[in-house]
Amino acid sequence: MPSREFVGDSAAIGEVRNLMRRVARSKALAVLIYGETGTGKGLVAEKVHEQSTRARKPFIDVNCASIPGDLFDQELFGQEKGTISSAILRNNGLINAANGGTLFLDEIPELTHSAQTKLLGLLDRQKFRRTGSVSDVEVDIRFICATNRILFKEVNDGKFRNDLYFRLQVVSINIPPLRERGDDCLVLTEHFIKKFNTRYGRSIKGWEPAVADIFRNFHWPGNVRELENLLERIFVLEDENQIRVKHIPPRIMREVEGGGTATKDAGFEALSQGKSFLDATNEFQVRLISNAIEGSGGKLAEAAEALGLSRHALRHQMTKLKMR
Ligand SMILES: Nc1ncnc2c1ncn2[C@@H]1O[C@H](COP(=O)(O)OP(=O)(O)OP(=O)(O)O)[C@@H](O)[C@H]1O
Ligand SMILES: [Mg+2]
Repeated sequence: MPSREFVGDSAAIGEVRNLMRRVARSKALAVLIYGETGTGKGLVAEKVHEQSTRARKPFIDVNCASIPGDLFDQELFGQEKGTISSAILRNNGLINAANGGTLFLDEIPELTHSAQTKLLGLLDRQKFRRTGSVSDVEVDIRFICATNRILFKEVNDGKFRNDLYFRLQVVSINIPPLRERGDDCLVLTEHFIKKFNTRYGRSIKGWEPAVADIFRNFHWPGNVRELENLLERIFVLEDENQIRVKHIPPRIMREVEGGGTATKDAGFEALSQGKSFLDATNEFQVRLISNAIEGSGGKLAEAAEALGLSRHALRHQMTKLKMR
């Protein structure tokens, strides 16, 4: 299978690309990839493997959320024949299969505490002992772990081992969300149009200029995956040979038109008009609160909830901002 392309011209993605190259060539045995959902963590893990000296060895992809806690040991470390009744044959486990290559552990916070302890031991010693065996097995594996949750918060909540967190944190790659990558949404759109033109035997050429503005202003909670899915949907459902504004789902239009970005830009707008930082910040808060009140049909309690404030805090803030 031809290798997938990692697309993007923004400075932020340039940095990620540099970091990937360095990490790939390094001897680092543990790598952490952080990014919101759909930012390309799986793709980055694959690329790091491809660019490393391990490229000809296996790349094994494991989603920690899909293995039940009690089976984790078995699946990863394998087991000797006959150690439990169901083990008729010796199962070598995924660690063994990945030897010499890369093991990609997606959704790492889903690991149980005992699995976290085992993983830490393995990272430190590069060997492990299979259940029912008396000898250690040596392995040479690079572990790439990924998460879309703030790991430090998981540590604070007691869900993730402190020491494992620090071990993984040493070499980490942070993938920025799509909304922070400038015109990458358009570069990616071009890339996906090419891909879907081939897949669906179509010849869509570009987009109406207004589409570019919508894509630049939408906040893409599902990041690159959301953009890719949106474009595929247009390929399947629409007949025209250009991406048009009328092809964009109402959900996206509502956010882009509904003051979402006006709110976001209010503070910057005020700053660019020469207002002080304090005045610009106040203006931003006024706009944010007004939008929330409008959105709740004037109900303060609902507006407060939407803003994540108590009703008391909202009233206090409104008085301070002279909104009442
Ligand atoms: N920079 C990019 N260039 C090209 N395709 C990309 C890029 N980033 C992501 N994609 C594509 O977007 C989709 C989502 O990427 P991926 O599955 O790697 O995201 P993820 O961060 O692992 O998401 P999740 O957190 O949901 O597991 C994939 O089809 C991937 O090929
Ligand atoms: Mg993924």
